[in-house]
Amino acid sequence: MSVGYFRALRLLHRTFRNYPLTQRFHILGRFLTAPFLRTLDVIPVGARVLDIGSGQGTYPRLIVEERAREVIAVEPDIRKALIAYKHPKVKFVTGYDDCIRGQFDVIVVYDVIYRLPPEERDALFKRIYERVKPGGLFVLKDLDPSNRLKWTWNRIQETISDKFFGLTIGEGFYIETREQIGERMARAGFTDFEWKRVDFGYPHAHIIYLARKAAP
Ligand SMILES: C[S@@+](CC[C@H](N)C(=O)[O-])C[C@H]1O[C@@H](n2cnc3c(N)ncnc32)[C@H](O)[C@@H]1O
Repeated sequence: MSVGYFRALRLLHRTFRNYPLTQRFHILGRFLTAPFLRTLDVIPVGARVLDIGSGQGTYPRLIVEERAREVIAVEPDIRKALIAYKHPKVKFVTGYDDCIRGQFDVIVVYDVIYRLPPEERDALFKRIYERVKPGGLFVLKDLDPSNRLKWTWNRIQETISDKFFGLTIGEGFYIETREQIGERMARAGFTDFEWKRVDFGYPHAHIIYLARKAAP
């Protein structure tokens, strides 16, 4: 873990202090409930990263502090993308991942695919495979349905959040098992599949998946 908790809070405060209050509450809520700091060191130092569904750009802001060389943050929700902060190493693009060209050392998808029905996932993973450089990494942060207690709570919370706050575009709450994710990554062409639970102390069953595009 590179950036400590209080330093990260100060950094995010400086980054988002001019945002509307509702957005600031949302960003703080995400910081307190998502294991951003436990998932920074999967990014190799000096990497050029594509973050798909980057939201307000919390993870990009944290990884450029000490690890990533540059992050392209692509986000389809204009409520988040159009007020995006300015940072020399973070470039925001408003849209879906298919508007991006080029290849990246790392592609991150952080708490996004729960919005994506299973039938759309293979196509996304394949697009990601094509956009990762040989030897590069796919980093997927999701929830693990194997912990029934946390899982039930996560479902209830997301249903309430969608019904009353509408903070995230899209519909539905689709979570797959570790085996299903591993198989999808392999079908897309990735190797060296790994997963790690990063949820200790959190009410959500956070899990991070890593897979590599083989070097030629
Ligand atoms: C829970 S938020 C996570 C945002 C950010 N990755 C983070 O960790 O703070 C989910 C994000 O996924 C975006 N999203 C929803 N459907 C998407 C899709 N099909 N492709 C890319 N992003 C999508 C939403 O607009 C939202 O910003």
